[in-house]
Amino acid sequence: LNFLSPKSREEIIELLIRGLERLEYRGYDSAGIGIDSVTNGVTLVKQSGKVKCLRDKIEAQKDALGFERELNIHVGIAHTRWATHGVPSDINSHPQRSDNDNEFVVVHNGIITNYKFVKQFLVQKGHKFESDTDTEVIAKLIKHLHVLHPSYSFRELVEQVIQQLEGAFALAFKSKHFPGEIVATRRGSPLVVGIKTKEKLASDHIPVLYSKDHRTHVYELPHGLARTESTAEFLPLGDDKEVEYFFASDASAIIEHTNRVIYLLDDDVASVDSEGILKIHRLKRCLEDSHAREITTLKMEIQQIMKGNFSSFMQKEIFEQPESVVNTMRGRINFDSETVVLGGIKEHLSEIRRCRRLLLIACGTSYHSTIATRQLLEELTELPVMVDLASDFLDRNTPIFRDDVCFFVSQSGETADTLLALRYCKQRGALIVGITNTVGSSICRESHCGVHINAGPEIGVASTKAYTSQMISLVMFALMISEDRISAQPRRSEIIQGLRKLPEQIKEVLTLDSKIQEISKEVFEKKSLLVLGRGYNYATCLEGALKIKEITYMHSEGIMAGELKHGPLALVDKGMPIVMICTRDNVFLKCMNALQQVTAREGRPLLICNKGDVEPQKFASNTLEVPRTVDCLQGLLTVIPLQLLSYHIAVLRGCNVDCPRNLAKSVTVE
Ligand code: G6P
Repeated sequence: LNFLSPKSREEIIELLIRGLERLEYRGYDSAGIGIDSVTNGVTLVKQSGKVKCLRDKIEAQKDALGFERELNIHVGIAHTRWATHGVPSDINSHPQRSDNDNEFVVVHNGIITNYKFVKQFLVQKGHKFESDTDTEVIAKLIKHLHVLHPSYSFRELVEQVIQQLEGAFALAFKSKHFPGEIVATRRGSPLVVGIKTKEKLASDHIPVLYSKDHRTHVYELPHGLARTESTAEFLPLGDDKEVEYFFASDASAIIEHTNRVIYLLDDDVASVDSEGILKIHRLKRCLEDSHAREITTLKMEIQQIMKGNFSSFMQKEIFEQPESVVNTMRGRINFDSETVVLGGIKEHLSEIRRCRRLLLIACGTSYHSTIATRQLLEELTELPVMVDLASDFLDRNTPIFRDDVCFFVSQSGETADTLLALRYCKQRGALIVGITNTVGSSICRESHCGVHINAGPEIGVASTKAYTSQMISLVMFALMISEDRISAQPRRSEIIQGLRKLPEQIKEVLTLDSKIQEISKEVFEKKSLLVLGRGYNYATCLEGALKIKEITYMHSEGIMAGELKHGPLALVDKGMPIVMICTRDNVFLKCMNALQQVTAREGRPLLICNKGDVEPQKFASNTLEVPRTVDCLQGLLTVIPLQLLSYHIAVLRGCNVDCPRNLAKSVTVE
């Protein structure tokens, strides 16, 4: 809006499409844009398939879209979809519209849980629905309210709409009735506003306005002053009022334009009028409201989110692990004095030490990082430690006490199940610790304290470097909390020195890449792959099997070797591909037993073992040797060959490594 310099419609479209390409990892079964039409209405272009398909469709209609025309003010909205209601199709793509005339159009990230109820109401009122989406009710509802209240401003209409909605959403609206204006809002799904100006902003805060009375347009400021809308000009611009705004679900979509952003809170309604003034309204004050939204400066560089020389983000991220683990430990571990300080939780240490128990709650790969570190947490904290999948934790209505400490581990910080579990525990008075990779994410903001794992942006849907960094963050926590325990010192010292060597050891594991590529050629056509291990390596089995499932679509199971004889052994014969992890720790002999049980059934497993350990190799068809480290850190090294194995199998099977079918990087719906 109010562009820094006039833009052609072609440039506007390019800006939208590039933004979508950056967000594509979050959902990618269809995409669409809504822009000003040449006749002052709203034009929609929607296409199922990847963003590239939308790009091609737009290119084919560029004359009709008026590519050349220059505009000073423009609002465009765009969306890439990951279906929750309705199959991926052109009609179900966003923007969704109010009517054939595109009077109101909306893009939505999230899920409207009461949409059937709203739809029923609107159908009775004569609205005709064209899609199977939950989102369409939003577009229809805003038009319905506009007809009822023709004098309401665009923002007031949106405020009315969201009061009728249940579920999770981030929404951006555009309307032919309000040219040059945009209104965006969120509840439960992330939304960031980027601001680009020529001049420095006059302030780094935007006050929040509370809508007291819609009809008189009076807003009450937090300190009790009332202002009329006409004087409530709060955009902290200097004299030069030229500005561009970017609303997005994720800063990666806008970082190439600006690094000045505002993270909106639930129920904030942000509007930009045709004068280029940004205002943030709320209908009512929320509990921890700060009366202002801070404009923060992001440090993320665009290069950081590019693929570099790698063929996929996942491959790049696997190979980044020698650096990402260093970034996780940087400034936190002093390897000489053997001390660990996590700035984000040090204020809460005494409270944590006094707690009843630790609960670690997460989904997917993040959950596996909690399994991988549970044993060490029990050992060093001497507290009971529960690990739970967020969805199951909620299903069980698990009892939570005020003196519980609950950890929420999430790469994105936006996973709906994890966030809901967080709120459940917070409501019951527990201390909330967030472990995330995304600064400013919902989980970060709603936690009492926490740790940023600092692994850098992870784009590949299948999580790799975030997993190793999550593990290290939890290990660091265990080290910090046991700092005062004299008896734990030798163990702590051994682990800290193990962490010091870790980056070099990861580099060594990565040199197995070409051998793993060869091995992949032997298994990529198989139907199934079992991954066996126990003790500290059990989490590696689960995580390795998840990687294989996610990106190769091959069936794979992580099996606790102790359970082998209780069922899974029936699967073993000479044709069944098996990976067995057997490293020198306290369960080594038990793993050797399992290995022999497998070979006795003519299974010839691919073995992951410690470097130079010949004993288990006698039973293996092939071996991947990883350097030895402290038992509780060994999983950081054994998981990497499985990350690489899944990657190579996926490539050989012709799968899209970064965007596996049916999956999204960040699942912001329950
Ligand atoms: C999705 C992703 C997984 C991820 C899980 C948890 O299912 O596809 O890769 O492990 O969500 O995500 P989080 O961001 O909470 O770690």
